[in-house]
Amino acid sequence: MTSDLDRLIGIFKQARQEVAKIIIGQTEVIDQALIVIATRSHALIEGVPGIAKTLLVRTLARVLGCDFGRIQFTPDLMPTDIIGTNVFNLQRNEFVLVKGPVFTSFLLADEINRAPAKTQSALLQAMQERTVTIDREQHGLPDNFTVFATQNPIEHEGTYPLPEAQKDRFMMKIKMDVPNREGELELARRTLGPDAPEESLAAGCVQCVLLESDLATIWEGLQGVTMREQLLNYVVDIVRASRQHESVLVGAGPRATQSLLQASRACAVLAGRDFVTPDDVKAMVLPVLSHRLILRPEYEIEGISIEEVIDRIVQGVEVPR
Ligand SMILES: Nc1ncnc2c1ncn2[C@@H]1O[C@H](COP(=O)(O)OP(=O)(O)OP(=O)(O)O)[C@@H](O)[C@H]1O
Ligand SMILES: [Mg+2]
Repeated sequence: MTSDLDRLIGIFKQARQEVAKIIIGQTEVIDQALIVIATRSHALIEGVPGIAKTLLVRTLARVLGCDFGRIQFTPDLMPTDIIGTNVFNLQRNEFVLVKGPVFTSFLLADEINRAPAKTQSALLQAMQERTVTIDREQHGLPDNFTVFATQNPIEHEGTYPLPEAQKDRFMMKIKMDVPNREGELELARRTLGPDAPEESLAAGCVQCVLLESDLATIWEGLQGVTMREQLLNYVVDIVRASRQHESVLVGAGPRATQSLLQASRACAVLAGRDFVTPDDVKAMVLPVLSHRLILRPEYEIEGISIEEVIDRIVQGVEVPR
């Protein structure tokens, strides 16, 4: 194993430990978020209010030494509210750039579907290009620019659901489930004690495990993870099977293949390995595909869940030995 990769494995391990000082349980969610960050991607986060979506991203920023910013999307939010604008300064008699909140490393875009398409696409463009254009001038975003976007459930009135094509830009959808009874009891205890999660974070109880500038090079370390030819085939076949499955109206595009490959590699590193196994791929299929498939209406009416469909898709593809 190369020393770069060794270091990477160590950083992941420490990061997990530090985040766990604040976030109770949610281990899979923490791993998925680390995978998204390590691969320089973006994620959707889904979960009921008060499940610690905001706290998770803030904690990750602290642990990885990155800036954190948040934008609450509203129906009247304008693209310039996100990217920034040139403002005329009377004293200096010139225009000065006022940077918008996208100029940060970890950005939580809360309730992204509450803003109209024009505003959403300003963010999506920034995600894709990692630059923004303000009055025809290009400005680069920080190296670690990573968006975590939350969505309001679609049933809510007055929302603008993200078009499928836009969802594809997110590497994965991280689903946060409510904690089990034990976890909730732990939260209850901590809330009344000296180590309440919010207060612990504010009091500096977590350690920063690396410099922000180091994080930008982490993904280069991932290049050292090997993936056998059979596993490449496995990934390609799974994504292709998603397009052919009887219950699927629209399957995943080629970007899903890339996301699944990268996520599987990072997943291997989290497990302390320098090679990918079929289980890494399997673990990443659901988060990578779940927001990219549209089921046929007749199946949706039947009440089949996306998890079940993806499970069937994976089962239909032969696992390489
Ligand atoms: N798993 C958990 N670990 C630690 N604290 C938790 C956990 N789940 C909930 N909490 C507590 O719930 C509080 C609310 O979390 P937070 O504000 O991050 O939720 P949210 O998911 O962003 O909610 P909203 O959708 O309303 O923005 C946290 O400050 C924390 O005290
Ligand atoms: Mg929140």
